[in-house]
Amino acid sequence: MKNILITGGAGYIGSHMANILVKDGYKVCVLDNLTTGHKDAVLNAELACIDLADRVALDTLFANNDFDAVMHFASFIQVNESVQNPAKYYQNNLANSLNLFDVMLKHEVKKFIFSSSAAVYGEPIYTPIDIKHPTNPVNPYGRSKLILENILADYDKAYGLKSISLRYFNAAGADPDGKLGERHNPETHLIPLVLQVASGRRKEVNIYGTDYPTKDGTCIRDYIHIVDLCQAHLLSLHALLNGSISNVYNLGNGHGYSVLEIIAQASKVTQKKINAKRCSRRAGDPAVLVADATRIKKNLGWNPEFPDLETIITHAWNFEKQQLN
Ligand code: UFG
Repeated sequence: MKNILITGGAGYIGSHMANILVKDGYKVCVLDNLTTGHKDAVLNAELACIDLADRVALDTLFANNDFDAVMHFASFIQVNESVQNPAKYYQNNLANSLNLFDVMLKHEVKKFIFSSSAAVYGEPIYTPIDIKHPTNPVNPYGRSKLILENILADYDKAYGLKSISLRYFNAAGADPDGKLGERHNPETHLIPLVLQVASGRRKEVNIYGTDYPTKDGTCIRDYIHIVDLCQAHLLSLHALLNGSISNVYNLGNGHGYSVLEIIAQASKVTQKKINAKRCSRRAGDPAVLVADATRIKKNLGWNPEFPDLETIITHAWNFEKQQLN
């Protein structure tokens, strides 16, 4: 039985990943300091409540476990906050990751899957964004992700650390069984905010910008179902365990939806009126972010199961309704 360490495994994406790996027959250890994660999101896996800054605790964890690979989700994710407080982002997303690499290498664990982001591209020059698109992050969050990707390339050459970096576009939706979902605090992501309005937990949602050069003036994003995102990690893990070389992939459906389209689809799924307020642009939002994920489809046979927006929002809505109980 392969033994996988999932950092940030009590968070939104990490908890879904841990659940899928356990169901797939892996032994899973979740590492999370629970600053943003939820203890009750760790289903059927061991939880090590450790901070990645704590090298001694990390070393002990690796000494006591024979990990075959590490999936690294632990990261701060708020772009705005990263501009206000870059130190927090470089300390956690970068320095703490270096601690993790040191301990991994000390214990000869040399397979690594990294949560990267479309934020590495910055303002797109063309869409859809393929993997050859120039990288030019426009905020410390995106820069922390790109720097870590570059460090991984150096560590591969020097130490043989094999990695797959997955550049997510907009992760969305929830576990179809309804046990897990998105619970950020504060919530900043569009779909959960819209659904909180539908459920009555929130009065209205802000539309950040209606003057973008898009068909309806609002930003366009490529939303990818959390299960499809996790399946891409599973394929990446299989590849690394089978001796694959390091690689970098985009993860998205290749289809963009505007903010107004999201609100309309959410209204249809929930059968509720969703109050929305037109506001000025949010700093740092590109008009259009749509992925070309050809490389992962070709190399790893990734084939999304839930590409349609209605399913993504329906699964997220099933989870939101449970938050009311
Ligand atoms: N939006 C609104 N109102 C809101 C929230 C968002 O109009 O209340 C708009 C944003 O302006 C954007 C779109 O909805 O155009 C999607 O916004 P999200 O915050 O849901 O997602 P982002 O595209 O900003 O963020 C995604 C990931 C982040 C990551 C970021 C950069 O969800 O974790 O990409 O890669 F940091």
